[in-house]
Amino acid sequence: MPIPYGRQSIEDDDIAAVVAALRSDWLTQGPAVAAFEQAFAAACEAPHAIAFSSGTAALHAAAHAAGLGPGDELTTSAITFAASANCGAYVGAKPTFADIDPSTWNVSAETVARALTPGTRCVVPVHFAGLPAPVRAIRAAVGDDIVIVEDAAHAIGAHTPEGPVGACHHAEMAVFSFHPVKTITSGEGGMVTTRDPHIAERLREFRTHGMRKDPARLERHEGGWHHEQHELGFNYRLTDLQSALGRSQLAKLERFVTRRNELADRYRELLGGEQQLELAPAALSGYRHAYHLFVVRHRGGAAARRRLYDGLHARGILAQVHYQPVYRHPWYARSYGYAPGLCPNAESYYEGCLSLPCFPALSSEQQEEVAAAVLALA
Ligand SMILES: Cc1ncc(COP(=O)(O)O)c(C=O)c1O
Repeated sequence: MPIPYGRQSIEDDDIAAVVAALRSDWLTQGPAVAAFEQAFAAACEAPHAIAFSSGTAALHAAAHAAGLGPGDELTTSAITFAASANCGAYVGAKPTFADIDPSTWNVSAETVARALTPGTRCVVPVHFAGLPAPVRAIRAAVGDDIVIVEDAAHAIGAHTPEGPVGACHHAEMAVFSFHPVKTITSGEGGMVTTRDPHIAERLREFRTHGMRKDPARLERHEGGWHHEQHELGFNYRLTDLQSALGRSQLAKLERFVTRRNELADRYRELLGGEQQLELAPAALSGYRHAYHLFVVRHRGGAAARRRLYDGLHARGILAQVHYQPVYRHPWYARSYGYAPGLCPNAESYYEGCLSLPCFPALSSEQQEEVAAAVLALA
């Protein structure tokens, strides 16, 4: 059996939770969504959590709730999944890119400050691989007029000295993904956390076509059925089936993140002696890494990484590359004229990076097999 770089851990109680939802009165958004949101808000120590049909939908909603539109710019990390930047384009804003810090592979306050322009209205720091990005320092660097949306798709279960990622102490919103390779899954799914009740309301309306029913917020009162669309929203609802799975998985978050940290520690023991490899930056004291990914960077660059990737795949070890700089995608070059050289640290990182298998069900034997193959091919 091939070893993937990531995969879900579904257990009997997860299956039972979904079966119970199937037997209930609701299939689409109902009481299981509210229960998942409540449990998620508690886990993140945030007052509000709003569920979406995917992390991408959640980012789109966050860009809308941030009030972005044509003429505005949204700055995110050059090293991320394209959705972190696409969400700006969805609402007509221009995505721009901050370089990574070569010692963390995250953006820093300095790289974000360098990327700002007079049009920047929103910054999306990404907690890449699960390592908390320095959001507090970024807030200090950008001031209070810029909306910060943390892309925490990799970082459920990560901590800073101030508490869990998602608590939004220095950001307006934090966005999560429950895609099956992520630390907890709902099949597809996403969540936004926020401390701001008005933002929470905008997010809820956006996921249901921009419709509202609260009599206090309607223009007209035509009867009990009456509802009104005040914004252009979407159907971005999570279902009760997915929420039942998500809530069941959330109860295992500590166990999953602990196991991911054990795997990372073991990779450091097994691979630490190989001079050709730079291993994933560890969390500083007081922080907890969620290790959605365990990335190594081959110091030999593109050709060496290609050999390592091909050699591992030939052995059934499905390592993956996260990510090419987003602006190198042809759509970005075509739409905004981005060219190579924009973010040199990101480009040099991309040439060597490779994500090794890291997920709770990876056995010690499998991990040793992976490490032995990496050492043989590096
Ligand atoms: C950093 C990052 N942001 C956003 C997303 C989008 O999440 P989803 O796949 O749930 O739409 C992903 C998913 O891969 C991601 O890795």
